[in-house]
Amino acid sequence: MMIAARRLFKDVSDLPTIPAVVSKVVSQLENKLADPDEIADLILSDLVLAARVIRVVNSPLYHRKDQITSVKRALMLIGFKSVREMILTSYFVEGLKDKAQPFDMKMFWLHSFTVGAISRRIARIVNYPDIEKAYLVGILHDIGKVFLGHYCKDEYGRMLTGIRNTSITTHEAEYKYFGTTHSEVGLCLAQRWNFPAEYSDVISCHHSSEMAIADPLLTAIISLADFYNMSHVTADCVAQASIPGHSEENAWQTLTKLGIPLPSSLEHFLSDLDEVYETISGEADLLFDTMTA
Ligand SMILES: [Fe+2]
Ligand SMILES: [Fe+2]
Repeated sequence: MMIAARRLFKDVSDLPTIPAVVSKVVSQLENKLADPDEIADLILSDLVLAARVIRVVNSPLYHRKDQITSVKRALMLIGFKSVREMILTSYFVEGLKDKAQPFDMKMFWLHSFTVGAISRRIARIVNYPDIEKAYLVGILHDIGKVFLGHYCKDEYGRMLTGIRNTSITTHEAEYKYFGTTHSEVGLCLAQRWNFPAEYSDVISCHHSSEMAIADPLLTAIISLADFYNMSHVTADCVAQASIPGHSEENAWQTLTKLGIPLPSSLEHFLSDLDEVYETISGEADLLFDTMTA
C-alpha cells in the first residue's frame, strides 16, 4: 500500500512549504529555556508572522479584555507552546487554502480543529505530558486527505459521491479507489516535512492505533478523539462511524493500562465528552474564522 502512496507523490512539486523563519521560530519555541526577547525578535523579522501572532492572541479565542500589541507580551501571556501551535496551524490553513478540493474545506478544518480540541481534553484526562502536542497533531491527523483530494480531485469526488449515505468509511473507500489511504499519504507528507516521529505515528496510525510505535498513547488519544467526532458529525470529508472498531478498542485498552481512574467502559468515556462538545465545536468555529480572516 505504501508503494501506491509513494507513487502518487512522485510527480508532485507544488506541496506547501513552511518558511525557514517559521521553522526557526518553532524550534526555538520547543526550547523551554529560550529567551523570549530573542524569539520575539525572530518573529518580528517576518511582519506577516508577527501580524498573525498579534491577530490570534487578540481573537475571542483567548477571551482577553485588553488589547495586546507586543509580540513579547503575547509570548509571555499565552506561553511558548501555544504560540508554536498557533503559528504552525495558521501556516497549514494558509498553505492549503488555494488547493481546489472535492470536499468543503471549511468542514475539513472544523473536523480537524474539533479533533484537536477533543484530543487536548482527553490528554488532560489521562495526564499526557504534552497537551499542546496532542492538540496540534489532532489538528493535523487527516492532512493526507487534503493531498488525495487535491491531486486526485475527480476520482476522490466520485469516491465521496459513491459512499454518501452508506456505512463505508472514507478510509475503506480510499483503499478501494486508490490502493492507498489518507493515513499512508499523510505519512509521506509528514516525512517530507520532517515531522517528529510521534506526529508521523498519529498521522499514519489514527485508524489502526495498534500499529503505533513512537507514541502509542498519543495515537490512542487522537484515535478516540477522531472516532468521537466522526460519530457526531456526518459530512463529505469526515463521514460516518458509530461502532468502535479494532483501532478504537485498542486505543481504549491503552488508556486503561495507565492505571488512572477512568469510566467503566469506552462508551461511558466517550459519552462523558458530550458535556464539553458544544463548547469545543464553538471554539473550532472561532478558530476557523480567526485563521481565515
Ligand atoms: Fe482519518
Ligand atoms: Fe479524522
